[in-house]
Amino acid sequence: MQPVRIAPSILSADFSKLGEEIRAIDAAGADWIHIDVMDGHFVPNLTIGPAVIKALRPHTAKPFDVHLMIAPVDPFLEAFADAGADCISVHPEAGPHLHRTLQTIKALGKRAGVVLNPATPLDSIDHVMDLIDLVLVMSVNPGFGGQKFITSQLPKITELRRRIDASGRAIDLEVDGGVDRSNAAQVIAAGADALVAGTASFTGGPGQYAANIAALRGG
Ligand code: DX5
Ligand code: ZN
Repeated sequence: MQPVRIAPSILSADFSKLGEEIRAIDAAGADWIHIDVMDGHFVPNLTIGPAVIKALRPHTAKPFDVHLMIAPVDPFLEAFADAGADCISVHPEAGPHLHRTLQTIKALGKRAGVVLNPATPLDSIDHVMDLIDLVLVMSVNPGFGGQKFITSQLPKITELRRRIDASGRAIDLEVDGGVDRSNAAQVIAAGADALVAGTASFTGGPGQYAANIAALRGG
């Protein structure tokens, strides 16, 4: 298990100045930049696509942790890889052949992640453990920032930690949705080593970002 990485979701940033927001959250200590891509079909919201990610790429050297909430996902993998994604995470429900999707991400030279919705069982990754670099556990239903953390996901995180450790592979365990300073320690104790935080990172404006990130780390 690695020291916890904080991945601010730019969904909660000021969209009128995303480049500036990314530079500020980088300087405040973000480890990864979490980018939520939504299509209004797989999830009931629309956000950004590869052109915006490409435009943001020069603003930071931190890894882009791209969370794809789009279906079908396969036709767009190359565009997100070319745009500058470092890790591409997909939902098993976003295509008929998860194994093939993960093979494609790896062939593009990117880290591959699988995202588990609150109702999606851990068993759905049993036979792709050899292909994945990250598992993203959703602690809200995907689609919107600012939702309440679903506590039933805590035992799932603990069981996933056990399975990752048993696999002997260096797979990151990231948690996404409703993570804030009141529950971050509990999420880390359950076994997470990466936390997505939208609202909790960007609240209060740039003057607060460093303190927000430090609070998530438990500092
Ligand atoms: C939800 C997204 C999350 C969201 C997190 O579909 O995947 O990344 O932006 O936002 P907060 O931290 O505000 O719950
Ligand atoms: Zn996300």
